[in-house]
Amino acid sequence: MNLGERLSNRARSIEFSGIRKVYELAAKLKDPIDLSIGQPDHAVPHAVALAAMRAIESGQNRYTLTAGMPELRRKTQLAVNAELGWDANVMITSGVSGGLMVALLALLDPGDEIIFPDPYFVSYRQLVRMVNGVPVAVPSYPDFGFPAAAVEAAITPKTRAIMINSPGNPTGTVMSDADIRRAAEIAEKHDLALISDEIYCDLSLDGPSTSPARYAPQHTIVLRGFGKTYSVTGWRLGYLAASGSFVDEITKLQQYTYVCAPSMSQVAMLTALDVDVTDICAEYKRKRDLVCESLAGTFEFVRPGGGFYVFPRVPATFDCGAAFCNAAVERNVLIIPGNVFSDRDTHFRISFATTDAKLREGCKRLCELARRGPG
Ligand SMILES: Cc1ncc(COP(=O)(O)O)c(C=O)c1O
Repeated sequence: MNLGERLSNRARSIEFSGIRKVYELAAKLKDPIDLSIGQPDHAVPHAVALAAMRAIESGQNRYTLTAGMPELRRKTQLAVNAELGWDANVMITSGVSGGLMVALLALLDPGDEIIFPDPYFVSYRQLVRMVNGVPVAVPSYPDFGFPAAAVEAAITPKTRAIMINSPGNPTGTVMSDADIRRAAEIAEKHDLALISDEIYCDLSLDGPSTSPARYAPQHTIVLRGFGKTYSVTGWRLGYLAASGSFVDEITKLQQYTYVCAPSMSQVAMLTALDVDVTDICAEYKRKRDLVCESLAGTFEFVRPGGGFYVFPRVPATFDCGAAFCNAAVERNVLIIPGNVFSDRDTHFRISFATTDAKLREGCKRLCELARRGPG
């Protein structure tokens, strides 16, 4: 028997990420200029690494409570409530991905719809399918703000939630306060849950980003992560914050799936929360400026305000994002076509989480390619 042919309809409906194809290409290239990587390139703050090692050595290797170590929950809860003027409970999750999965399991019955702006983080569509929900992607081109009118028009009796991501992946856009407020108003007006993926909130490059929890505290579920901020994506740690009994209710979903977030990561995060990330943020801001300067005049793009991505438009002489990205591969540069994150294929994603030398050379080659065209 070939078990690969015995898949459930659910498993069959899930598509491999287009990013995987780029990784496969990367493996074939010799020393590529890789601008495709969606994870930080800065060093793990020493105190944080030390705290994780000490946690292992001192025997903190067992299951923690399902919702997380009480001390870490308390610390995170105090911080998020103080920041957002909120009265939320917190569950420590296995990365933001774990939080997303548990939140979607909790909110959607089969056939229920969830609306999110397009472009979107690559997992959203597939995670919604995994819980047998219906993803409804609403275009936010060309400025990648919150498309309030289109979101409201997409609401049906089956809609259960809206999902937003600011600062965003792949666009780097930080939604304005007015946009966040509109998202919150729509959620309240239609009594929908509002999932706010804020994984890049510590990497807001031009001042703090806003959360809808400020405006719709009872409808919002905030998801945040530690992986991008402290360069520990492999440690699988994040948290979910929501008011009322939501956290208590969904703890059972975490109990029977991820059980708990990794114990040593939780211990280390107690230290991480006291680490000043101003310098890390300033470094990404500098790289953002470098990339924007290098691309300006050749590419059309919205200047990103957070995270480490830029999402420029493909030059008009190329058919689509995939065509441009394939041509870039021939120049040993790896970027991701827009259709990995979108129903359209008109853009491409650059990650600036790499060295200045690679950024300079990569942008130079992309600009040359744009000027020359496909031929
Ligand atoms: C917008 C967004 N949400 C969630 C995730 C997943 O984060 P984690 O590694 O904490 O599961 C990512 C990772 O790239 C992301 O960019």
